[in-house]
Amino acid sequence: MSSAKSVRLALLGCGTVGTEVVRLLHEQAEDLTARIGAPLELVGIAVRRMGRERGDLPVDPSLFTTDALGLVKRDDVDVVIEVVGGIEPARTWLTEALRAGKSVVTANKALLAEDGGTLHDAAAEGGADLYYEASVAGAIPLLRPLRESLHGDRVTAVTGIVNGTTNFILSSMAATGAGFNEALEEATELGYAEADPTADVEGFDAAAKAAILASLAFHTRVTAADVFREGMTGVTAGDMASAKEMGCTIKLLCIAQRTSDPAGGSAVSVRVHPAMIPLTHPLASVGDAFNAVFVEAEAAGPLMFYGRGAGGRPTASAVLGDIVAAARNKLTGTRAPSESNYAQLPVRPIGESLTRYHISLDVAEKPGVLATVAGVFAHHEVSIATVRQSGRADDAKLVIVTHSAPDSALAATVEALSRLDIVRSIASVLRVEGGAG
Ligand code: NDP
Ligand code: HSE
Repeated sequence: MSSAKSVRLALLGCGTVGTEVVRLLHEQAEDLTARIGAPLELVGIAVRRMGRERGDLPVDPSLFTTDALGLVKRDDVDVVIEVVGGIEPARTWLTEALRAGKSVVTANKALLAEDGGTLHDAAAEGGADLYYEASVAGAIPLLRPLRESLHGDRVTAVTGIVNGTTNFILSSMAATGAGFNEALEEATELGYAEADPTADVEGFDAAAKAAILASLAFHTRVTAADVFREGMTGVTAGDMASAKEMGCTIKLLCIAQRTSDPAGGSAVSVRVHPAMIPLTHPLASVGDAFNAVFVEAEAAGPLMFYGRGAGGRPTASAVLGDIVAAARNKLTGTRAPSESNYAQLPVRPIGESLTRYHISLDVAEKPGVLATVAGVFAHHEVSIATVRQSGRADDAKLVIVTHSAPDSALAATVEALSRLDIVRSIASVLRVEGGAG
């Protein structure tokens, strides 16, 4: 055991993640002390409801309080750990802590994606550390590699599955042929999906994570508002079957790329949407509720990060790693790397992203239909890669996969197709990524 003065921790939030942080601090106390060179001491835990049942937590009940701001302001706190979530009052607590020189460890992706700049500015003002490894992809060590290990390289793209709930739903649809609602029901029964799954299935959760990843990868402040977002509720069992026929599967992807602006300068593009990817793509085999992120850098080449993106204990593992780093810095008087936002690259609109589309049309079966449809693609300068026709008479279906084109040209093509008399309906439109099709 070390005889050094303890590093004192204030924990804000004691729910799914917070309770596991408390358990890990207790279970690993001796090892943590040895690794840090001083013991960690939990001096207070802020919650919303004092009377809530929290299981058999190895902690003195007198540590609990409902006054989070009062806890943050205490003079005997060195590190504030925030696992509450949401924008306010978390932003007020954390800026208060950072400006006062207290280190912050947070898992709050919503706050970092909406207003991470305010937290980074407060950290710079107070000379304090801001760590947030758990905010993206749970247990997977991903932000530290982007923030430190890859700082000698130039990242060109980050492509990932960063939402476990939707990956479970899509993996289940691919494996069983189930529709979205059926797979969501299964995800809810198994405890993956929350009672209100909107943030997950509509892509808000993934968009927040995409903003955080893009900011780190491209040394640029990117917020959730900069991220193009399309949820996965429209993916049907028919889409999944069609993907299978093409040797593909469908995943909800977060894609952040270094690109160029019209003047030839560097820019970034950040988007979240469902996409077909070939079964040979490294992300295609990521099943269940797992996350995986594929990073491409100029010198390093491709790098793959894989693991559990959610859950109390896996997420607490990432929080503990940050606590150790913050505590060590406190003891040695050093600092975490500060925010790197020197590049300030412009974020390009979705219309300029180059992608491919898979379009499924219900059409009239008569001479000239294919030529008319092909003419619409040609008019918008979108090149067709493959066409498949099935069915006859009232039941004809055309499945068209395009070559790469600007998203705006592809969207305009779909809009023009929807106005044709011979097109009865547009059954589905999906983006195609990663060499598929
Ligand atoms: P929970 O809802 O399980 O826990 C939230 C905690 O915050 C509860 O203890 C609650 O108190 C407390 N709380 C809420 N409002 C206040 C308030 N005004 N003052 C003091 N305490 C308050 O959330 P999670 O543990 O699931 O998530 C926490 C954070 O971690 C979020 O930012 C989330 O996005 C992030 N995260 C979560 C993951 C997961 O798998 N759950 C994965 C990755 C990140 P009480 O217990 O009294 O209700
Ligand atoms: N709801 C998120 C998921 C939790 O399903 O991945 C982790 O951020």
